[in-house]
Amino acid sequence: MQKINLEGTRVDALTMLREDHRRVKEMFRQFNEAQDSQARKGIADNAIAELEIHAELEEEIFYPAVQRETGDKEMIEEAEEEHHVAEMLMDQLADTPAGTNFDAKFKVLMENVLTHIEEEESTILPEAAEAGTETLTRLGRQMAERRQEILHEMESTGQKRPARRRNAAGRPSTARRSSAAKSRSTAKSASARARSNGARASSSGATKRPAKSRSTNSRSRSRSTARR
Ligand SMILES: [Fe+2]
Repeated sequence: MQKINLEGTRVDALTMLREDHRRVKEMFRQFNEAQDSQARKGIADNAIAELEIHAELEEEIFYPAVQRETGDKEMIEEAEEEHHVAEMLMDQLADTPAGTNFDAKFKVLMENVLTHIEEEESTILPEAAEAGTETLTRLGRQMAERRQEILHEMESTGQKRPARRRNAAGRPSTARRSSAAKSRSTAKSASARARSNGARASSSGATKRPAKSRSTNSRSRSRSTARR
């Protein structure tokens, strides 16, 4: 697990999130190059912890702030649903031993995450930049402090993943989800269900159809309406 980065307290939110993305992509590269399944699992476990902390910071602090600043509810709801699909895959990986099945599931997660990162860097982060330096620095400080808290909890409990991320049903606790996420439209829920089903089918090996191309298409459509 990446050690605590105190310098983050002076870094603005966008720089911090881009650095998270860079770090996760580097872990993915290491996973792809690792020679044995145990080494791949070790790298994947670290990447999953990073992803869960990253998602926690975004959902708790960054996304609500971006929605307040931009008023772009649809963009944030879609990002949260993308997180949810990744969370389901990560939950499955937690119960999967090292081996070809684990590797296959993790590859699906990597595709999902890389698409999400691309979307965030091309849409959410540029929109968030309009909030201005002062706001972004304040958010960066809040996120850095929250990251410290989470890492401290993980260290003190010996957990590899942030324990408060999930409730019994495998979703983030309702109390921590934004009101926007709780009031999704019917169409949005249907779209999310379709994507979730696709992810489940892909990760269970029931289909060889790549999840990335489906979700990319659906995202492209909604992004074109969300952009200004
Ligand atoms: Fe994200």
